Amino acid sequence: MLPTIAWDLDEIVMIDQRKLPGQEIYVRCRTAKDVAKAITTMVIRGAPAIGVAAAMGIAAGMKRSKATGTRQFTVEFNQTCDMLAATRPTAVNLFWAVARMKRSFGAGALAGESAAELAGRLRREADAIHDEDVAACRAIGDAGATVVPAGARILTHCNAGALATAGYGTALGVIRSASAQGKVAHVFADETRPFLQGARLTAWELVNDGIPTTVITDSMAGLLLRDQKIDLVVVGADRIAANGDVANKVGTYTLAMLAHAHQIPLYVAAPCSTIDLDTSDGSGIPIEERSAKEVTHVGGTQVVPDGATVWNPAFDVTPHRLIAGIITEHGMIRPPYVESLRSMARGAQA
Ligand code: MRU
Repeated sequence: MLPTIAWDLDEIVMIDQRKLPGQEIYVRCRTAKDVAKAITTMVIRGAPAIGVAAAMGIAAGMKRSKATGTRQFTVEFNQTCDMLAATRPTAVNLFWAVARMKRSFGAGALAGESAAELAGRLRREADAIHDEDVAACRAIGDAGATVVPAGARILTHCNAGALATAGYGTALGVIRSASAQGKVAHVFADETRPFLQGARLTAWELVNDGIPTTVITDSMAGLLLRDQKIDLVVVGADRIAANGDVANKVGTYTLAMLAHAHQIPLYVAAPCSTIDLDTSDGSGIPIEERSAKEVTHVGGTQVVPDGATVWNPAFDVTPHRLIAGIITEHGMIRPPYVESLRSMARGAQA
């Protein structure tokens, strides 16, 4: 499995997710600004991966700082954090990672560390965020595999795989763990218009892993759920509100309604860094709107006439009542989510 994001000395190397599956090209980021650009342009995407990239970007940026004293270093650190936090609005993992880097910096500053010591501490914190994400995904995979029946036929949406995390994946982590246990018969991947994360990235990951995969267009999901003996739907998340409402790639809400209508369970797989207890319900989650060109053009070819306007929300919110369970690195959370999310967060902190 190719790493999504890794250090090469003081530079960050990422596989360019815009080019997959046609080309395996790597982008090098030397500065925090390079990383911010990689996030906004979708070289790297997926909630946990964005958080990891931001943390590594802060570490890379501060390592290169020319600040002469800790005061100037601190000003530069805060500006770097602000720049990375402004890249995408919906995935809470981004803000979680920046806040964690700030806490680490604050502890070092309080202890009177020099700029060089602070830079070293930031690098170690970014590495911890990266490694913990891989471990969380593996634990999510194992927890989720318990609800996958033998011979399972599974539908997933977008890409919640190794590419969307530091490695292994969340929804695809569940599929990988279940597949390793011999339980997965077939995976269906929604193509996921307009950016085609399902067709390009999820199918690429699954095919590379030798897991039988069929890609469908998003509009085929209803028929698939009615006629193709699907056992479960599993998706990732960009932000989980305190009541269990889930923001994820646009189209997840449609799938959840369809799954509910056909009495097929829909599970959300996500690390605790995706849970936002400060947002009480889905109505408080900011939804990113992306460029019209993602909709008007497919592979560089214009498919929408000039003069038509476009609406391109990148995410939607699935109400908690449509979610059978939330699979985290600490196990499965079941409704009522207000209580189960809160007590899980308390347990995770302890
Ligand atoms: O716009 P993207 O590609 O960043 O959106 C990604 C998703 O919606 C994923 O499902 C989500 O981030 C979970 S990734 C483990």
